[in-house]
Amino acid sequence: MELTEARILVAGATGALGGAITAQLAGRGARVALAGRDPSRLARAARAHPGVPAIPFDAYVPESCARAVRDASAALGGLDAVVVAFGAVAFGTADEVGDEVAEHLTAVNHLAPAAFFRAALGVLRPGSAIAAVTGAVAERPQPAMADYSASKAALRAWLDAVRRETRRTGVRVLEIRPGHLDTGFAHRPVAGTVPPLPQGGDPRHVAAAVADALETEAELVTTSPDGTPVVERRAR
Ligand SMILES: NC(=O)c1ccc[n+]([C@@H]2O[C@H](COP(=O)([O-])OP(=O)(O)OC[C@H]3O[C@@H](n4cnc5c(N)ncnc54)[C@H](OP(=O)(O)O)[C@@H]3O)[C@@H](O)[C@H]2O)c1
Repeated sequence: MELTEARILVAGATGALGGAITAQLAGRGARVALAGRDPSRLARAARAHPGVPAIPFDAYVPESCARAVRDASAALGGLDAVVVAFGAVAFGTADEVGDEVAEHLTAVNHLAPAAFFRAALGVLRPGSAIAAVTGAVAERPQPAMADYSASKAALRAWLDAVRRETRRTGVRVLEIRPGHLDTGFAHRPVAGTVPPLPQGGDPRHVAAAVADALETEAELVTTSPDGTPVVERRAR
C-alpha cells in the first residue's frame, strides 16, 4: 500500500503504541483519523495532528466501534486501512482473576477489534488493510496472564481466519505481535499487580515496522528477544 494520501483510522491513538503508529503513518504522508476513549487524551492526541478527525469510542460498546469506522470513512472520504492499537491487561493467577475481569479482557482485546474490522470489511476495497496489535502472549501464553493471553490468542485466531477469507477480496490482514514494550501499559492493569518484567522495546521502532509492513503488504510484525522489530511477509 502506498501510504502517501492513504486514509487510515487508528483506533487507540491515545495510547503509547497507537500514538507512535499514528505519528509514523502521518509522517509518511497518510491522512489519519484518530479514535480514542478518554476525551482529554483524544483531544491531546489530535493536537499533534491539526485538522484530523478525532472520534470517540469505547471498546466495551461494540456499536461505538462500528460507528467510529463509519464516522472516519465519512470524514476522510473512504478508508484504506484500519489499525487497532488499543487493549487492556490484568494480572493474577487463574483463580485470582474474576469472571468480570476475564469478560472485560475478552470484550476489549478480542470482540472490540472484531467489531471495528467487521464494519471496516464492508467499506474497504482491494489493496486496503486491517491491522491489529496482539502480543507475544498470543503465541506464548504466560502464567499470571491467562485471561490476557487467551484474549490475544483469540484475536490472533480471528485475524488468521479472516486473512484466509479476504484473500479473494484483496484486503490485507496484518498482525502486530510485539514482546514487552516500554509504554507503561503493564503498569495500568484493570486488575492485579505487574510481575517483574524485563526491559521493554521501543514502541517507536515497532511503529516504524508497522508502517513498513503496511507499505510492503507483510502479514506479521514480531519482535526479536532484544526488542528489535521483525517484519515477516507471511503470518505463522
Ligand atoms: N506495552 C506492551 O508491553 C505491549 C506488548 C504487546 C502488546 N501490547 C498491546 O499494545 C496495545 C497498546 O498498548 P500500549 O502499550 O500502547 O499501552 P497504553 O499506552 O496503555 O495504550 C492502551 C490503549 O488502549 C486504550 N483502551 C483501553 N481500554 C479501552 C476501552 N475500553 N475502550 C477504548 N480504548 C481503550 C487506551 O485508551 P485511553 O487513552 O482511553 O486509556 C489506550 O489508548 C494493547 O493492545 C496491548 O495489549 C502491549
